[in-house]
Amino acid sequence: MKIFLDTANVNEIKEGLSWGLVDGVTTNPSLIEKEKGANFKDIVKKILEATPGPVSIEVVATDFDGMIKQAHKIRELGSNAVVKIPMTIDGLRAIRKLSEENIPVNCTLVFSPIQALFAAKAGAKYVSPFVGRLDDIAEDGMQLIEQIKTIFMNYDIETEILVASIRNPVHVVRAALIGADVATLPFEVLKKLPQHPKTDEGLSKFLADWKKLFPDGNFPL
Ligand code: E4P
Repeated sequence: MKIFLDTANVNEIKEGLSWGLVDGVTTNPSLIEKEKGANFKDIVKKILEATPGPVSIEVVATDFDGMIKQAHKIRELGSNAVVKIPMTIDGLRAIRKLSEENIPVNCTLVFSPIQALFAAKAGAKYVSPFVGRLDDIAEDGMQLIEQIKTIFMNYDIETEILVASIRNPVHVVRAALIGADVATLPFEVLKKLPQHPKTDEGLSKFLADWKKLFPDGNFPL
């Protein structure tokens, strides 16, 4: 499973990349807004330059023509730019048109299995089901991932399932067990994943025992 970082913060992206854990990046208008004061074009260019993998940038037009125009502007900024299009009827039209132009699209704001199927049929490279926001309204977000996975397997659909709106490490484990293609994580969740209290406890014990043997911390090889 690929790991994307769900952020518009270049420092977080550089840090995650330096750990070797980040295969790509997803942004959205709310994440861009968090980078208060920064110039939108500059942020996008910096993210695209810093990231070797795909970077999703979202359009804010809601009509077909506007989405296509904004999509072309986004693509001009980098060959790794993926255009994020919301799951609407105009959005589906735009996904079809852009995929005919070989422009990769991430269909966002997916909350039902049929929305995911329609986005895939329109030619989306990725579909982004939002699991956390479903959990927030007492639905089971991960059940949606299972349903989409089954449908895509039934029809040999190549569109990648990009699990979005992830809130905790359990979402990530479940995504991997289901066989999702990508999980996009907030930096805070990414940081937690390599850590385990038993790992920290075990390491302290090993180091304490070593100090008994070599009080000056020597490693005599
Ligand atoms: C995905 O691409 C979205 O940017 C993101 O995962 C939304 O997550 P949220 O529900 O935490 O805002």
